[in-house]
Amino acid sequence: MRHKVGVIGAGNVGGTLTQRLVESGWADVVLLDIADDFARGKAFDLEDSRMILGNAGNVMATSNYAALSGAEVVVITAGLARQQGMSREDLLKKNAAVVKGVTAGIMAHCPEAVILVVTNPLDILTNLILRESKLPPSRVIGMGGLLDASRFANLISKELNVTADDIRAMVIGAHGKQMIPLPRYTTVSGIPLTELLAANKLKTLLQLTVDRGAEIVALLGRGSAYYAPSAAAFSMVKAVLNDEQKIVPSCVYCSGVYGVSGVCIGVPARLGIRGVEEIVELELTPEELECLKAAAETVKNAAERL
Ligand code: NAI
Ligand code: 2OP
Repeated sequence: MRHKVGVIGAGNVGGTLTQRLVESGWADVVLLDIADDFARGKAFDLEDSRMILGNAGNVMATSNYAALSGAEVVVITAGLARQQGMSREDLLKKNAAVVKGVTAGIMAHCPEAVILVVTNPLDILTNLILRESKLPPSRVIGMGGLLDASRFANLISKELNVTADDIRAMVIGAHGKQMIPLPRYTTVSGIPLTELLAANKLKTLLQLTVDRGAEIVALLGRGSAYYAPSAAAFSMVKAVLNDEQKIVPSCVYCSGVYGVSGVCIGVPARLGIRGVEEIVELELTPEELECLKAAAETVKNAAERL
């Protein structure tokens, strides 16, 4: 039996995520967008590739939340994407209104689902969705850290001329300027990055990682990144539905870990069928810990102001 996944927002991220899911063969997707013809166009186009690719998954396009009934995971990608010169925070007001409505629709028709949040500003909206949904914190997860870690890994692979496959990168904190890449917990075939790169080179790669989203926005000219973001969301949906018990940097609710309480922020979390199975508490340097607490404080204040 295939899993049922809801994807809200049929734009660049939602559409590409849907493609990854139906091509995987283990998921049927309900693709929901306020612009239902747009969603239907994407669904028809994806279905039309079946003869060639043999896609097993079905896509059903709609603007009606009732179609989500029975979905095990719902991914929220609805809202505006960042344009050039726009910060993630500029999106806050508009996207907060969008995700409030989306959350109400999900709760009315599939309150048992795990929610994966993608819409920006990611950390603030994950907090808002947790609050609005009143779901247990284990069932609301934000995607940001895995994308940032994958970007960090790509830059490392190019710098060291090694395959990105051999890299395991860890990035915590907020998805934005307050992200905190952790070189000591980033390895190349098990070798800590700190043994392979000089401190000044590392600093450059860390900054490039922080700036990567904006760099892509500037190059694209319209819209923001979606191939790597949809890959990160796909991997997290898979970790939950296949009960992988995989440790993934995720935006999750902290109640005491790392000295952080009452806020969702990026930390390593073990993901499985129940959503967040455990938050993994790494030993951080005093400086890293301060950065994490500062990021959590910024997100908490912004979420409380909403
Ligand atoms: P897009 O503009 O291509 O697609 C957004 C879709 O949302 C549109 O099809 C639009 O019709 C739909 N939508 C708007 N309001 C809606 C509503 N009330 N109900 C249902 N659908 C609605 O944008 P894209 O590139 O897909 O990005 C989506 C969001 O994901 C943006 O906020 C973007 O900043 C964020 N993002 C987050 C990342 C992360 O790492 N967390 C990475 C990449 C994007
Ligand atoms: C990114 O980092 C816009 O959050 C999105 O590309």
